[in-house]
Amino acid sequence: MKLIFLGPPGAGKGTQATGVSTKLNVPHISTGDMFRSAIKNRTRTGLEAQRYMDNGQLVPDSVVIDMVRERLAMDDCKNGYLLDGFPRTVEQAEALEGIASPDAVINIAVPDERLLSRLTGRRVCGKCQGTFHVSKLADEKVCPVCGGELIHRDDDKPETIKKRLSVYHDQTAPLIGYYTGNGKLKTVDGDNRPEDVLKAILASLE
Ligand code: AP5
Ligand code: MG
Repeated sequence: MKLIFLGPPGAGKGTQATGVSTKLNVPHISTGDMFRSAIKNRTRTGLEAQRYMDNGQLVPDSVVIDMVRERLAMDDCKNGYLLDGFPRTVEQAEALEGIASPDAVINIAVPDERLLSRLTGRRVCGKCQGTFHVSKLADEKVCPVCGGELIHRDDDKPETIKKRLSVYHDQTAPLIGYYTGNGKLKTVDGDNRPEDVLKAILASLE
């Protein structure tokens, strides 16, 4: 199955992707994670992306589309994939139609007022990529799953989060109409316990 997760920053796309990609046996492809890895490895794409990510802006469409096209051509994508954070503009959605049209688009809906505290309190494991919230952690610095170091993302500062939210409403939210128009959109209430959100996503795919 070729699946897309749509939703504002902090909606729980990364959190839910782990369970859903395991269940469907498809790779989880997060463009944000790909850029963070490129930044860490100081590649040309990473250095270009960083200028935009640090300001909460979108990386230019041409850079993202080329990167995704290359990734989707890899062997592990033959039976489908779960795209998290792509497409994020109508131009990206149209480019994806030319690569491989998605089977379903899950829109994880969460009201804006919930997102700021989710993101300021987020910690991500640098080793296993697990996502946590400080309110549920005994130790803010150590991953409870693998013992790796927990990281506070550079773009999870209040001013950058506000910018990311405004960019989401201007440039990404129009995709809700785009995918409603072609009958592929399924909206799930993301303002519930993570385990209930997972159940709702899997039920919507049956
Ligand atoms: P990206 O990494 O994709 O960030 P994002 O879309 O802003 O989304 P997040 O990763 O912040 O949120 P999430 O929905 O994954 O939430 P999570 O599960 O972590 O992109 C980063 C940047 O890269 C962009 O700003 C842009 O510059 C660039 N980029 C990436 N893709 C691009 C593209 N296609 N085009 C152009 N530029 C691109 O959860 C968040 C927190 O909430 C965690 O603490 C978690 O524990 C908690 N939480 C999760 N679920 C729940 C729940 N149900 N209840 C309570 N808390 C919960
Ligand atoms: Mg994410």
